[in-house]
Amino acid sequence: MTDSAGTLEAAPPDNRDSMLTKLAELRTEQEKAVAGGGPKYTERHRKRGKLLARERIELLIDEDSPFLELSPLAAYGTSYPVGGSVVTGIGVIEGVECMLIASDPTVKGGSINPSGMKKGLRAAEIAEQNRLPLINLVESGGADLPTQKDIFIPGGKTFRNLTRSSAARVPTIALVFGSSTAGGAYLPGMSDYVVMVAERAKVFLGGPPLVKMATGEEADDEELGGAEMHARTSGLADYLAVDEQDAIRLGRRIVARLNWRKHGPSPRSDYAEPVLDGEELLDIVPSDLKVPFDPRDVIRRIVDGSEFDEFKPLYGSSLVTGWAQLHGYPIGILANAQGVLFSSESQKAAQFIQLANQIDTPLLFLHNTTGYMVGRDYERGGIIKHGSMMINAVSNSTVPHLSVLMGASYGAGHYGMCGRAYDPRFLFAWPSAKSAVMGPAQLAGVLSIVARAAAAARGAEYSEENDAAMRAMVEGQIEAESMPMFLSGMLYDDGIIDPRDTRTVLGLCLSVVHNAPVRGTDAFGVFRM
Ligand code: COA
Repeated sequence: MTDSAGTLEAAPPDNRDSMLTKLAELRTEQEKAVAGGGPKYTERHRKRGKLLARERIELLIDEDSPFLELSPLAAYGTSYPVGGSVVTGIGVIEGVECMLIASDPTVKGGSINPSGMKKGLRAAEIAEQNRLPLINLVESGGADLPTQKDIFIPGGKTFRNLTRSSAARVPTIALVFGSSTAGGAYLPGMSDYVVMVAERAKVFLGGPPLVKMATGEEADDEELGGAEMHARTSGLADYLAVDEQDAIRLGRRIVARLNWRKHGPSPRSDYAEPVLDGEELLDIVPSDLKVPFDPRDVIRRIVDGSEFDEFKPLYGSSLVTGWAQLHGYPIGILANAQGVLFSSESQKAAQFIQLANQIDTPLLFLHNTTGYMVGRDYERGGIIKHGSMMINAVSNSTVPHLSVLMGASYGAGHYGMCGRAYDPRFLFAWPSAKSAVMGPAQLAGVLSIVARAAAAARGAEYSEENDAAMRAMVEGQIEAESMPMFLSGMLYDDGIIDPRDTRTVLGLCLSVVHNAPVRGTDAFGVFRM
């Protein structure tokens, strides 16, 4: 709760403590992703005189410019290393925002496992939706062979996406630093521009052993797919780099010559920083998500000048809606206040989303909802049709949507607030977020009631002891599966962020979405009134 001066009234200290503990856990996992294949493979890679994936990225982007890394915790909770053997993110090269996809050759030779494949496809989707030139930094053993069944068929999209991007007049570039074998050979094959590093890049459909097996022919690496051969003979390489640094320099020159123009409007340059202290964003979310918090405390710490013009403040007050500016870009904000969405909140949301579309203004959804209200009176009052109206509006809205999960994001509330399946351009979570079909205790309780009724219908006895054990087990499972790191591991968000970075991350995202035209719609289909 904020007083009239905007300062936070004494927030319980355990809010901050709990957030800092979660941030420390997050950092431990992020460090695993940075460590890639671990010291043994990192050292071997260095001894070969090669740069690591993150070092290649750092040299490629403009000096001192930020890199918005995406899905760093991909594969968390799976048997694959955290990070998914690939680094993806958005960086600025010669002033142009580009999507970068860099294989990490220290993890199983940079081969693509199922998590890495999903992460690469998500990066390509972001590039397509926001018109970002796509740069692959390639050094990969292709498909992770033991898991080929999970990647071979869906992974084909990787190559289709490249040519579709090109057809949409969004350039694609491959910088080949090492192996790019079999399916991987189509990364350069399908890209608009290809750079290969002499004596390092090896691009072939089949390496020497496979060729020997297939045709009996004896040929070495260089003859089959060396950079020199591709630059002089096959024509697959457009540029021959003398070393990795030279490949990066050539990559930057290619981007400099793209004559790139953003299609969305420019931001205002005279914007003010928030008046309220962003450090206090650590204090706002209660350690117990059942305790509500005021999202205005968040909004006024992330928007320009801390200025927020609330729309319909007296109606449907469990959902805050209003207009603001962030890093010079106008935005409309929808933020949950008391957690539950009622009919009036849903109607207010649908109207607000229409208004934003009418004036071509991007929308930001700040989640802390337990879903739509249930109960006799609410059903009779039409909660289903009003919730549907909000979900209709969010589904058909064509202005860019950004979502941040601050706290709870449960049930259809996750959908109405533009959850992952509703295609927000970006979705980030705070370490305090939780997402599931419903809360763990409620879910276990529902299962218990259903099981009890089923036993009664069969005339069987119901064991209270088994019921208690089942509830405890289910609650534990759902709690673990609702946690942001688990959901991030499954690629259900684009990353977990420190609340204090929210303004910066959203500012970068708003700049990115303005590469594409920002245009609203008035075609929402039939609203059930
Ligand atoms: N699938 C699964 N594991 C793979 C792999 C793949 N495609 N490519 C490499 N690995 C594993 C290796 O078995 C090795 O594992 P280990 O250290 O636990 O024994 C680890 O990754 C490192 O491989 P290594 O060969 O030592 O690395 P390298 O840097 O010397 O060579 C490659 C890298 C990619 C050139 C080489 O591993 C290779 O040719 N791989 C097969 C490529 C291929 O034919 N892919 C077909 C895909 S359709």
